[in-house]
Amino acid sequence: MKVDNLMDLDKRYPQMAGTANPEKMLLFSLLRHIGAKKVLEVGVSAGHMTCWLAQAMKYENGYLTSVDNFSRAHGGQASSKEIPQKRINIAGLKDWVTLIKSDSVEFMKNQPDDTYDFVWVDADHSFKGAYDDIVEALRISKNGIGVHDVYQQYDGPREACLSIEHDMGISGTWIPGFRGTWLYFPRPTSKEE
Ligand SMILES: C[S@@+](CC[C@H](N)C(=O)[O-])C[C@H]1O[C@@H](n2cnc3c(N)ncnc32)[C@H](O)[C@@H]1O
Repeated sequence: MKVDNLMDLDKRYPQMAGTANPEKMLLFSLLRHIGAKKVLEVGVSAGHMTCWLAQAMKYENGYLTSVDNFSRAHGGQASSKEIPQKRINIAGLKDWVTLIKSDSVEFMKNQPDDTYDFVWVDADHSFKGAYDDIVEALRISKNGIGVHDVYQQYDGPREACLSIEHDMGISGTWIPGFRGTWLYFPRPTSKEE
């Protein structure tokens, strides 16, 4: 996989924290595996994950839209678009991603059903914020969503996932890891249905 430039990026443009490399690698590989061409990321911060999603879009000839209100809530490192944009520019990925400053739920509510191939959720980590993000993400994604920080010090994303699994009768693929990623894919429908 051609990701050496991204493995090296933290040395050239350090911004504290950000999603860990194994989880970035997981998402990069997943997007390539499903051939995702239209991806939404909610929760950008300094753009750590953004670059990996954008690199997958570069190889898939796709496009990434990344939304953050830059409130710096829940571990956010960036108070403006300039910080992640600089990381994206250094990575040579500016042609594959647009950053949008907006509340995540407000943005997603304006997107029609099934607009995206995949949505990555890593924004508001309160129970209500995560719940609303995940419900909207499931609606606007055709092929699946991922939720980050389910094992972080915040309980919101995990509790929201469990609640939605109960409310909607769905189940996730739980990936263990430092901060934890849970994935939700549409159920295959049989021809009889
Ligand atoms: C955990 S950080 C994202 C980390 C990022 N994915 C990375 O790889 O480094 C959460 C981000 O969500 C943003 N955020 C929090 N609440 C939000 C909301 N309601 N709408 C949009 N963005 C929000 C914060 O500004 C912060 O940048």
